[in-house]
Amino acid sequence: MSAAQMIHARGLARTFRKRKQEVRAVDGVDLDVARGEIVGFLGPNGAGKTTTLRMLTTLIEPSEGTATVAGCDLRADPIGVRRRIGYVPQSGSTYQEARAGEEIVDHALMYGMDKAAAISHGRELFETLDLEGMWKRQPKSMSGGQRRRLDIAMGLIHRPELVFLDEPTTGLDPQARANLWEHISALRTERDTTVFLTTHYLDEADALCDRILVIDHGRIVAEGTPDALKAGVGGDVIEVELADEATAAQVRSMIEGIAGAELTEADGRHARGRVPNSGTAMMELVRGLDAAAITPVGIQSRRPSLDDVFLTLTGRSLRDDNTHNGGAHENGAR
Ligand SMILES: Nc1ncnc2c1ncn2[C@@H]1O[C@H](COP(=O)(O)OP(=O)(O)O)[C@@H](O)[C@H]1O
Ligand SMILES: [Mg+2]
Repeated sequence: MSAAQMIHARGLARTFRKRKQEVRAVDGVDLDVARGEIVGFLGPNGAGKTTTLRMLTTLIEPSEGTATVAGCDLRADPIGVRRRIGYVPQSGSTYQEARAGEEIVDHALMYGMDKAAAISHGRELFETLDLEGMWKRQPKSMSGGQRRRLDIAMGLIHRPELVFLDEPTTGLDPQARANLWEHISALRTERDTTVFLTTHYLDEADALCDRILVIDHGRIVAEGTPDALKAGVGGDVIEVELADEATAAQVRSMIEGIAGAELTEADGRHARGRVPNSGTAMMELVRGLDAAAITPVGIQSRRPSLDDVFLTLTGRSLRDDNTHNGGAHENGAR
């Protein structure tokens, strides 16, 4: 492994026993992350993101595989790994009654920093993360976005070269998410930190990451820059919104009939498909709609999104997952 490499993992796997069942949560993952990269680990709930992160951060042992993280061997030198990395868990930290500033100083002392350095670095981090004025506040009185930024400050207090963020923005409102994205980007530009984050938000991976690894059922199913992944889908997407479900079925079969078309998902009043060329497909579809006397509520074509990439790779939409996941039900576990 060269010095420019931050994570090098081969064949990482982890099996859990759940009652009598064996669950292969991670099923042979290879990973390479270069120094200075922001890499997104994208996948639906249960894909194996957190389990992979917990292995890479030494919290659980891999059942199989090897990894070097921040220059240290995961199995031979877990303490070395821990010293060099930061980890911000999915559920967020549970804070006691202490003030935010005291929490962060305690955390730094645990890593062997002296108190003066802990305070000055903590203050500096609060400034970077827009937490000025929060030093004496109790975390429980902060907003969700502020608390999440405090979590990140905790993960950075010992100046790690590499930080792992597990679903940093799940459960935050759109404005707080966008704000956090800026802060995560700044970790690299201002602090030279390599970032490995998990997310099930495609827009997040798109906005933030240099490179994306898509994981599903414990395996990496695709890898590349957001643009390359989108280009790999090819063609255009056409979407028709209808007044009722009955006509939707009819329109879906019209889309299916277009040469080279592939139906994507079927939900309620929408019919969607991927077509080689949106111009000819639209013309054919409009003629069909006209002949059947169906007036759609809306009809559009667009370039493929990362959503479509995921759909193509796994046959499932991540979008549905997002709408049902406000962050509450999945956050407590693991
Ligand atoms: N400690 C555990 N015991 C048993 N099964 C687990 C445990 N942790 C995770 N799993 C299972 O492994 C799979 C992957 O989980 P996880 O890594 O948390 O996925 P993600 O973070 O992508 O949502 C799921 O099926 C989950 O139920
Ligand atoms: Mg998870």
